[in-house]
Amino acid sequence: MRLKGGWQAEAGDAGANFIMCRIFTATESQAPMAFADPENAPDAERKADRESGAVAYAARTFADATALAARLRPGYPVYCVRPKRIKADTRRFLRGFPGRTLYAVKCNPHPLVMQAIYEAGVRHFDTASLGEIALVRELFRDATAYFMHPVKARAAILSAEQVYDVSHFVVDHTDELDKLIETTKDDEITIFVRLATSSKGAVLDLSRKFGASVDEAVKLLDRIHREGYRAGIAFHVGSQCRDPMAFRDALKRVGLVLARTEAEIHYLDVGGGFPAPYVGEDVPPLEDFFKAIEAGVEQLRLRRDAVILCEPGRAVVASGLSLLVQVQLRKGDSLYINDGIYHSLSEPLVFNNHLPVRLIRPDGPAAAETRDFTIYGPTCDSHDVLPTPFTLPVDVREGDWIEVGQVGAYSNALATGFNGFKPETFVELEDEPPGPRNTPTQNARQAAVR
Ligand SMILES: Cc1ncc(COP(=O)(O)O)c(C=O)c1O
Repeated sequence: MRLKGGWQAEAGDAGANFIMCRIFTATESQAPMAFADPENAPDAERKADRESGAVAYAARTFADATALAARLRPGYPVYCVRPKRIKADTRRFLRGFPGRTLYAVKCNPHPLVMQAIYEAGVRHFDTASLGEIALVRELFRDATAYFMHPVKARAAILSAEQVYDVSHFVVDHTDELDKLIETTKDDEITIFVRLATSSKGAVLDLSRKFGASVDEAVKLLDRIHREGYRAGIAFHVGSQCRDPMAFRDALKRVGLVLARTEAEIHYLDVGGGFPAPYVGEDVPPLEDFFKAIEAGVEQLRLRRDAVILCEPGRAVVASGLSLLVQVQLRKGDSLYINDGIYHSLSEPLVFNNHLPVRLIRPDGPAAAETRDFTIYGPTCDSHDVLPTPFTLPVDVREGDWIEVGQVGAYSNALATGFNGFKPETFVELEDEPPGPRNTPTQNARQAAVR
């Protein structure tokens, strides 16, 4: 790292400290495969790194949710991580995305999740805070954290750079650029400009709060260039984007910027937003998005060595976690469970999505007939009710467990401790998670509703 001035020791808060056990579970044996970015590599090539680098997190492993419920009989919610599924979903990016895949830590920062993504071969991480940067750098010695929040505390910039060797930052405003230039000590950092894009086709707009217009982006990039920094452009088309053309449109907007800036672009970051295959959602395959991005990038005037990045969160982890909840009370067609909108299940409020569910009753069979149940969360707040019902056997009762699938994205990451409820237990399961392929009753019903 080349420093602009003298080193200052006031690095500030070094972020969270994570204490882990060095216990590794066996990993799947992998056939050799092609990876789009040589900086990422599959497990087999990374064994040496694992011995010297990554810190592992030990979790109890069960065959499935029934075995888990029979053994622990938990009255608290339990996150069920399927590392194999997370690795498979991660590898789709590593194999198919035409560039480098970063994982967006905000989506699910749990060490078990991070470890699966690392073991799949990801070495670069999109981080938004010093806490996330600390997590990445303390878990994996050879990983790179990119500080991709357009608004940063000066102390966080300084600590990121000096404690954690961060050298990629993003801005979307001239005052933030001033702040970064005044604070950072390193001339060799890369500064991305976050460009606002249309969020057409996405469930969650991420350009209302952040993102420069084309005019503003040109001014920012020109200044970055004049100041002698490496320049990059970043955007985010919005989360759960169902239209590959949204990336093409965003890349056309990048083209408008490139036509006017004097800066050379070393990095182009197309963000996250890739959709998860939620039950009932007919989203195009990821490969369609990769093709659209490749075609869009080909039209751009970029340096030959420019690195194309993506920062998926949801598409990598949504299917890899389920949640085991328990029914605390049944009142007619309403079930009161031990998790809800203030904890792991806030996403359905935004998405109105149907989560795949299955009843878990280790001690005996359940009725074959099903019906819809209104689901109330554990808090005293009457808003704590899910917007869509769960379809379950008609004889569901107090003490039964329900396994809720496709909750890997923005679940534990958003859970509050409201009313004294805070789901904190994580285990690993070995079976296939509930999802579009294995909750046929519910899928058929939802297809009929649509
Ligand atoms: C800058 C940035 N990158 C990546 C992501 C991950 O997006 P997604 O989970 O939709 O893939 C987000 C989500 O908010 C983000 O803000």
